[in-house]
Amino acid sequence: MNLLKQLSEVAGVPGREERVREIIRQELTGLVDDLREDALGNLIAVKEAKKGALRVMLSAHMDEIGFLVRFIDDKGFLRVHNVGGFDVRNLFARQVTVHASSGHDLLGVMNPATKPVHISTPEERKKIPEMSDFAIDLGLPPEEVKKQVRIGDMVTLRQGFLDLGEVVTGKALDDRASCYVLIETLKRLKKPTAEIYAVFSAQEEVGLRGATTSAYGITPDIGIGLDVTLAVDTPGSPTEQRITELGKGVALKVMDSSMISTRWLLDEFIALAEKKQIPYQLEILPLGGTDGGAIQRVRAGVPTITVSIPTRYIHTVTEMVAKADLEATITLLGHYLQQKR
Ligand code: CO
Ligand code: ZN
Repeated sequence: MNLLKQLSEVAGVPGREERVREIIRQELTGLVDDLREDALGNLIAVKEAKKGALRVMLSAHMDEIGFLVRFIDDKGFLRVHNVGGFDVRNLFARQVTVHASSGHDLLGVMNPATKPVHISTPEERKKIPEMSDFAIDLGLPPEEVKKQVRIGDMVTLRQGFLDLGEVVTGKALDDRASCYVLIETLKRLKKPTAEIYAVFSAQEEVGLRGATTSAYGITPDIGIGLDVTLAVDTPGSPTEQRITELGKGVALKVMDSSMISTRWLLDEFIALAEKKQIPYQLEILPLGGTDGGAIQRVRAGVPTITVSIPTRYIHTVTEMVAKADLEATITLLGHYLQQKR
């Protein structure tokens, strides 16, 4: 779990995936036939096969939701713009890192620009602030802040990774859990017959951008999106809305708002999971998209499926995945890639 811990704790918002990319590059160097970076910052690992072999592209995104500095006020407080979708109710009283242009990682806290509870009226206490109401306090004099920080600098939430035994929890498991799964799958793969393109994509959280350009360049015959999906099996949610359950196996996506998985591919994956006795669940996600949605629609279209990891508390810093589900995902992908021709 040390690799997943590293991947979870490292910072990388859309367009600033360089630190994540370095970790993955180090893991894969010597393990694949080619490792390249493209114009958008996607890292593409290739396992070559004979000329004319089937081309399978997998994609897991490196970016996490976060912020960019939007404004620095006269007292040195920062206002931010979010890159990716946050629920502001999860953003109160957070520790943050401002990755300053000066080259320093500055620590600070983020709170809504409102009065403390002790001096608020009952009306004020009920109001949910907007993203634009949040301010970052670095505890530094304004001159110092202005010297180090520039508009556009990356800001990430700070959260330590925890191994709780059966499950792990931390930030950015969306989608570093899939990056981990893809790395492990490549490590265990023996000479496959198909040509494998493992893409660690950029800028998924702002609209599947890295997967779009990488798929265009790769021209795959089959696309496999890898992402987390909602496990809504926690208190306060009705069972008929649970999407998936934690620890009940890899999720095979029937559809989400970005794609309908290609029917024959879905059937192939179901048949393989049944044959190898790998626990799986079928998933329909009413709202949300993945890299699979981009791959499927590139050029004249690509048969594509998305394989998901059930995850609790998505888009918070307490995202939680089950080790058994990670293992089921790695095993299923491994079998699929090994036999595909
Ligand atoms: Co996400
Ligand atoms: Zn994701």
